[in-house]
Amino acid sequence: MPTTSDTVSTVLQSTLVDLIDLSLVGKQAHWNVHGPNFRSVHLELDDLVADVRLAYDTVAERLAQLGIAPDGRAQTIADTSQVSDIGPGQLGADKVVRLLAERVDAVSQRIKDSLTSVEDDLPTQDHLIAIAQTLDKRAWFLRSQQK
Ligand SMILES: [Fe+2]
Repeated sequence: MPTTSDTVSTVLQSTLVDLIDLSLVGKQAHWNVHGPNFRSVHLELDDLVADVRLAYDTVAERLAQLGIAPDGRAQTIADTSQVSDIGPGQLGADKVVRLLAERVDAVSQRIKDSLTSVEDDLPTQDHLIAIAQTLDKRAWFLRSQQK
């Protein structure tokens, strides 16, 4: 089993939490979007959620490979996520696109900011780079639907 630093495990755990919460926010928005462009935004959000779910599975399994128990419990997500809530109720499509693009960008930026701190574990760094690339693509897809 490869050795790992506290920094690598901390970065992976915080990324796991943010990605799980981003997937929950994505589903909340998928269900509550309404108005013009409903269908395209509704479908786009499920594509986002599918990518984010794959990403957090990769992160959790990297933790497991390093001998660290990933913590994806609801209480842990509620206590430690850095993803901002989007609030309850229906949301217009334009607002959904803006809110989600901001949150996808923020998670991607936190991942990019962490990359130099995990350079002693290149497989972890490589996973995180790939996830940031995917998030940037998703943010672009979302933003391109704005008026
Ligand atoms: Fe659905």
